[in-house]
Amino acid sequence: MRLATLSLLSILGTSLAYTLPTDLTQFYLVTTSQSTPSTNSSQLQGVSATAIFAEDPVLQSYLLLRLIGPGYASLPNFTLVDGTLSTIAAGPHGQGSYKYNSTVLSSNSPLKFLPSVQPAGNIALDGGYLLTVGGEKEGWTICEGALGQRVLYWKGANGTCAKTYLHAVREVPYRKP
Ligand SMILES: *[C@@H]1O[C@H](CO)[C@@H](O)[C@H](O)[C@H]1NC(C)=O
Ligand SMILES: *[C@@H]1O[C@H](CO)[C@@H](O)[C@H](O)[C@H]1NC(C)=O
Ligand SMILES: *[C@@H]1O[C@H](CO)[C@@H](O)[C@H](O)[C@H]1NC(C)=O
Ligand SMILES: *[C@@H]1O[C@H](CO)[C@@H](O)[C@H](O)[C@H]1NC(C)=O
Repeated sequence: MRLATLSLLSILGTSLAYTLPTDLTQFYLVTTSQSTPSTNSSQLQGVSATAIFAEDPVLQSYLLLRLIGPGYASLPNFTLVDGTLSTIAAGPHGQGSYKYNSTVLSSNSPLKFLPSVQPAGNIALDGGYLLTVGGEKEGWTICEGALGQRVLYWKGANGTCAKTYLHAVREVPYRKP
């Protein structure tokens, strides 16, 4: 009985994975040079998975989003409510787990998450998959961070920044074998 339920769930999971990511409640974020969706996130042009990290790992007072290559163990998922992205992560000093909420984005600011309630944000999903800020689809950039990470900014002005699109996807790309 239990096995049957599990295999039914895995069949459902497989078919869900290849439908368009509309009405996502929990999703992963990926960067890509492509603005149109793909049913298979691994096939988005120049796709990269993303993960959160703390620039101050001891305090974990805020989190940023960085690009991450194949071989990751797991990826954070996100929800979007009232223009604010949220994700669950370990809290300050690695204690407990907290809902981190994105801050309101402005030009040349990183996508930043704080473990506190935030005012309504300016992020939305266009077409159910493309992340916009203040209604704009273009403006996400990948910038070189202080420790060499590739960090997601809105309209990053640093010379290291390169344009990208940010997609919400149901399935992680290049899942490790
Ligand atoms: C998704 O795309 C990847 C990379 O092209 C491929 O290896 C994988 O088989 C695809 N999955 C499906 C179900 O088509
Ligand atoms: C999303 O992440 C949370 C916290 O890590 C986890 O409990 C949940 O199962 C994840 N949801 C999906 C759909 O992977
Ligand atoms: C993040 O915001 C939600 C409401 O959107 C709130 O319930 C949650 O407590 C916030 N996280 C923290 C750590 O305050
Ligand atoms: C651009 O990024 C590099 C690498 O992190 C950094 O050294 C430099 O200060 C940044 N420049 C600006 C204008 O932010």
